[in-house]
Amino acid sequence: MCGIIGYIGNRDAYSILMKGLQRLEYRGYDSAGIALINPNNELYVYKAKGKVSDLEQYVKDKDVSGTLGIAHTRWATHGEPNDVNAHPHYSQSENLALIHNGIIENYAILKAELMKHDYKFVSSTDTEVLVQFIEYLKTIHNTDLVTAVQMALSQVVGAYAIAILEKGNPDRIIAARKSSPLVVGIGNDEYFLASDATPIVEYTNQVIYLDDNEIAVIRRHEGVKIVSISNVEKSPQIQRLSLQLSELEKGGYPHFMLKEIFEQPATLRTCMSGRINLEANNVALSGIIDNKEKFLKARRIIISACGTSWHAGQVAMYLIEELCRIPVTVEYSSEFRYRKSILYKDDIVIVISQSGETADTLAAAQMAKQQGAFLYGICNVVGSSIPRLTDAGSYTHVGPEIGVASTKAFSAQITVLILMALNIAREKATISEERFLTLVKALNDIPNKMKKTLQLNDYIKDFAKIFTYARNFIYMGRGYNFPVALEGALKLKEISYIHAEGYPAAEMKHGPIALIDNEMPVVVIATNKGTYEKIASNIQEIKARKGKVIAIVTEGDQMVKSISDYCIEIPETEECLVPLVASIPLQLLAYHIAVIKGHNVDQPRNLAKSVTVE
Ligand code: F6R
Repeated sequence: MCGIIGYIGNRDAYSILMKGLQRLEYRGYDSAGIALINPNNELYVYKAKGKVSDLEQYVKDKDVSGTLGIAHTRWATHGEPNDVNAHPHYSQSENLALIHNGIIENYAILKAELMKHDYKFVSSTDTEVLVQFIEYLKTIHNTDLVTAVQMALSQVVGAYAIAILEKGNPDRIIAARKSSPLVVGIGNDEYFLASDATPIVEYTNQVIYLDDNEIAVIRRHEGVKIVSISNVEKSPQIQRLSLQLSELEKGGYPHFMLKEIFEQPATLRTCMSGRINLEANNVALSGIIDNKEKFLKARRIIISACGTSWHAGQVAMYLIEELCRIPVTVEYSSEFRYRKSILYKDDIVIVISQSGETADTLAAAQMAKQQGAFLYGICNVVGSSIPRLTDAGSYTHVGPEIGVASTKAFSAQITVLILMALNIAREKATISEERFLTLVKALNDIPNKMKKTLQLNDYIKDFAKIFTYARNFIYMGRGYNFPVALEGALKLKEISYIHAEGYPAAEMKHGPIALIDNEMPVVVIATNKGTYEKIASNIQEIKARKGKVIAIVTEGDQMVKSISDYCIEIPETEECLVPLVASIPLQLLAYHIAVIKGHNVDQPRNLAKSVTVE
């Protein structure tokens, strides 16, 4: 949530910062702002409610010269989205300008204290409190800015990635992080700073990922010095980015979300590459192999995640219990971290996160680690906070997911979880060799089945028009298809703003069936394995109450087709692999309904891609 960027070098800072903000806009898009130091050493701050393009309009006739600057795109936490609450925030003297991603939890106490010393506040943000606090400490201790930042951050409770400019100091940016990501890019006598590598990759592939409680002091022509809040100097670890610029473009698609839906056959291949060896009839996930004993001994597995990643965790519960015979519970990270959870040393905690930065999942991982559980991560963003904390893990390798609604990350998370389950099951001998080989072959064939399913795009686009009237939707599934129903409902509500709920189909009669009338669309995932006959009966119950049934069925289905109003046929596969194929028509349905309704599908209202606040 919130994107931050900084630049110091020989080029025009404004254009680099604005381009960078556009790349970071997926992290927050309710307001944006920029601070620059011009060649006369004057510090300017410009801010505007709305998108980065609104900021561009606003600064059209303003002085944006300079080779040093910081900029911010906001997802509001404290104070509504408006010009005043947008970042950067000035200190009282207007000598400092600061941008921030995160939350300062003790801001109210600090603010009350500063007000006693005649500090005035113009915004409702916690960020303004932080910049004032830094200035206050600098003044009363008559110290330099780096020391004042260290003093302030040692008293601050919360999460932050910050960057600060100081008037009269045109050769330095100070940045710091705790629990919110920050990357420093090292170019040729120029330096970049950003919430992630996407705005940096265009200029350099040499980066330093800051760790918690570290401060980067970036000086023109001198380079980057890293010190801790307690003033211990650290040697910077320079890493090489593997990100490609083309991965950040729409590639001819109208939206990133559609591009990412269509990328899935390819991203799944990449995700499986080197992990499935069909000739040798083998599946090998290095994180599992290196920690085989832990998985063989595990008394239970606890999965912790949020949103779509939590739905992938739900699929994993069915998978791991079926194939590995290890009990699994799936926790919302936000509840797990605060519950008085009981963890044992032979528990394995798996955290799943596309961004690797979700605040609640990160905190749940920290809690699990402190309690001595073995911590395994499934993440997409390489080098993000969660993989750096875990004992072992597997990346999903789907490249940047830019559409706010998660699609290709979801299918890759499930794929990694299937590979994990197959790997463990074989080691534990809880799967027969024949079944193992059947599943490996079927998994390897999923990208082809996805390609075939994607051919339904035009059909689903036409079909979506019928449902734009709806104010509510219900999604139902059983077994492996229950999490698919939850995910389908989440996709729809996120981008079309239609209220949607997912239910295990048999649960309907315990209450939700009261909602059914002739206007209620009910999407039922009723593929031909598992509890197929049972879900067919559940459909009858919906039809008896005149609900409009949209069924996702296996190609060639007769029975469910005959009792449904609309049908989407997907290729047949093994039951535990169905979520990989069945989620595609649901992603497309949500996408097309949202497009027809005229919504910004890549940046839906109130949401942001990387939820770095709890
Ligand atoms: C839904 C979506 C969110 C994320 C959730 C967790 O489309 O994108 O629900 O899945 O915020 O994010 P990660 O996976 O980055 O931890």
